[in-house]
Amino acid sequence: MDLFEKRVRNLGPLGMYAKQADGYFMFPKLEGEIGNKMIFRGKERLVWSLNNYLGLANHPEVRKADAEAAARFGLAAPMGARMMSGQTVYHEQLERELAAFVNKPAAYLFNFGYQGMISVIDSMVDRNDVIVYDSEAHACIIDGMRLHIGKRFVYPHNNMENLRKGLERATKLTQQTGGGILVITEGVYGMSGDLGKIKEIVELKKEFNFRLLIDDAHGFGTMGPTGAGTDEHFGVQDGVDMYFGTFAKSMAGIGGFIASTEPIIDYLKHNMRSQIFAKSLPMPMVMGALKRLELVRTQPELRTKLWTIVEALQKGLREAGFNIGNTESPVTPVLLNGTIPEATNITVEMREKYNIFCSIVTYPVVPKGIIMLRLIPTAVHTLEDVKYTIEAFKEINAKLENGDYKNVAFADISNL
Ligand SMILES: Cc1ncc(COP(=O)(O)O)c(C=O)c1O
Repeated sequence: MDLFEKRVRNLGPLGMYAKQADGYFMFPKLEGEIGNKMIFRGKERLVWSLNNYLGLANHPEVRKADAEAAARFGLAAPMGARMMSGQTVYHEQLERELAAFVNKPAAYLFNFGYQGMISVIDSMVDRNDVIVYDSEAHACIIDGMRLHIGKRFVYPHNNMENLRKGLERATKLTQQTGGGILVITEGVYGMSGDLGKIKEIVELKKEFNFRLLIDDAHGFGTMGPTGAGTDEHFGVQDGVDMYFGTFAKSMAGIGGFIASTEPIIDYLKHNMRSQIFAKSLPMPMVMGALKRLELVRTQPELRTKLWTIVEALQKGLREAGFNIGNTESPVTPVLLNGTIPEATNITVEMREKYNIFCSIVTYPVVPKGIIMLRLIPTAVHTLEDVKYTIEAFKEINAKLENGDYKNVAFADISNL
């Protein structure tokens, strides 16, 4: 069979909706300055779907640093991979500052968090080692594990009893193979907003010999007294052996990093294939990240503002009777009972009538019969935005409970 023919016959679980969804439910274009209000299909909407937690995307100092770095270095520099010709003092400076901020001896940069995580996992384990990981691990962790040729055990999300069983099995196995054990969890789970049980996992180190890697994409900059992450929040930084962060969220940039001991960072530097065989992070991203990190460190008021909005939003939604799950982070899921056509109609009404733009998540990401509206509060939202959104949610939920969205024809975006 012709490979192209085969692929276009079945576009995949998301691609199958491409015609109905393109430009509206999938690949929507948000235009204008990044902020609480942006333009979608020519109209201003209140946006709750960007991980711009600290509002740094359009912070004047950030914009200035980005522009100056682009003018000074261009986008090409440095040319080549770090190991060959792409090393600079600024890359090293950023690594030192990131390491110090998350309280680890050393760090190493990635061009994308996603690739970085794949490479960390790939280079840390061989066929004799065992990975034990949370069932809700992010796709980049799963992809890293796809490269692992040894055993892996999954435990149901945050289920410490099962993790213990996994560790018992992994311990027996590695006693035979002579391998080690890597446990992987997220700090903040990006869909549900609940936290990985890092404290309990660290506690298990008293009984089992393993190393702990946390993906703190959503926790870096938002969690902990200084914003150093979810392990700082729990007071267990010393128990986390490898800390992964991305610049894609609080830092409003691109790239990421891993922080750990000096010998391990040295090992990773010389073994992570995606970094050895790919071009170095461009200078504007590095200089921009240095400025962002400076602001994360020196402007705690940004985090205070973020949490003011988070608390108002989550408290308001709970008081209005909404189920927002077990979130303990800025990520705010609103769980409603309804079908996929109802979810589609809600999204259209939310956007067209209320001018609110948020992400909507349905089966298979959440169980059948559940609709999840996911809100990401940021430091650039206002209490007025929160109030307006809660009122809109109340009206929408009343209509949903009344069955009103069942009766509307399946939303046809071509008529909007
Ligand atoms: C939990 C988690 N890990 C890793 C990543 C990947 O990071 P990046 O966007 O820097 O590739 C993301 C998404 O950005 C994420 O949400």
